Amino acid sequence: MTGMYHEPVLVQEVLEYLINLRDGVYVDATTGGGGHTMALLQNISGNARVVCFDRDADAIKEAEHRLNKWQSQVTFVQDEFSNIRDRLRELSIEKVTGILFDLGVSSYQINSAERGFSFQHDAILDMRMDTRSGMTGVDVLQTYAERDLADIFYRYGEERKARRIAQKIVEERKKRSITKTGELAEIIRNVVGERHLVKSLARIFQALRIEINAELDHLSEALVQTTDILQTGGRLVVISYHSLEDRIVKNFLKERSATRKPTDDPFARQDEEIEPDFRILTKKPLQPDREEQNRNPRSRSAKLRAAERC
Ligand SMILES: C[S@@+](CC[C@H](N)C(=O)[O-])C[C@H]1O[C@@H](n2cnc3c(N)ncnc32)[C@H](O)[C@@H]1O
Repeated sequence: MTGMYHEPVLVQEVLEYLINLRDGVYVDATTGGGGHTMALLQNISGNARVVCFDRDADAIKEAEHRLNKWQSQVTFVQDEFSNIRDRLRELSIEKVTGILFDLGVSSYQINSAERGFSFQHDAILDMRMDTRSGMTGVDVLQTYAERDLADIFYRYGEERKARRIAQKIVEERKKRSITKTGELAEIIRNVVGERHLVKSLARIFQALRIEINAELDHLSEALVQTTDILQTGGRLVVISYHSLEDRIVKNFLKERSATRKPTDDPFARQDEEIEPDFRILTKKPLQPDREEQNRNPRSRSAKLRAAERC
């Protein structure tokens, strides 16, 4: 796997915030190449256990291989992290000591040309993290209304020329199907020109990926479930890579670390207050230092937030 290796981000910080019990049960919700899990296993006791989620079969295969030495301590689950509570229950695990989310795609996925995540390789526009089901990039470009495409590019990619790009896609697809990353890149080039091309390509590819994999919905759902599965004193650590994800994490923690009124429950006494679920441990999100950013460019946009279950 040389050159494909995914270097984990903010490893020391993850360990510092995640581990509060060396004998605990931990969840890596986004195992990827297993880099964070490996560091975790090296720092917890031989009695601790780690449940490794990823919805990507290739990631699970790669992590199983790399973590072979710890196989008696690790359980792999290929599923969405939004099913975390049910899948843990199936393993007879009610409460855990720590949960890590390292969101987005891995270098391994980006560098696997045939997966269609990257505009740097010409391949079929698949972009599904879990290739067992769901819409591919080709399906989205072929079937979504122009207005919906424009919304996705604007909301998930913050691309200013979202409308023009959506319009051009719809024009082009009347003539032929758009099936390859290179064809989409060409359409974007025709709209934005050379000067801002790379930025626009990154934005549109990110937007499509978020839509295809319903990334924000899964994140919101999984965060709610962490409240049920973390034991008191248990730690939640989330690393996000763009402002949409970080906003969801920030707002969730802000809301759940405050005393709330039971406004959503018509049967609850409105003068009662709901105690906070979390205590925030990182007042401001942590970011990689210059040295890490230079060594690992993918880490540049990373933001880590951590909280403790009350
Ligand atoms: C940035 S990588 C994680 C890298 C990992 N921390 C490491 O050190 O190698 C993100 C991983 O999360 C997975 N992923 C993203 N969204 C997911 C979801 N909703 N459910 C399960 N896995 C998901 C991706 O397939 C990818 O492998």
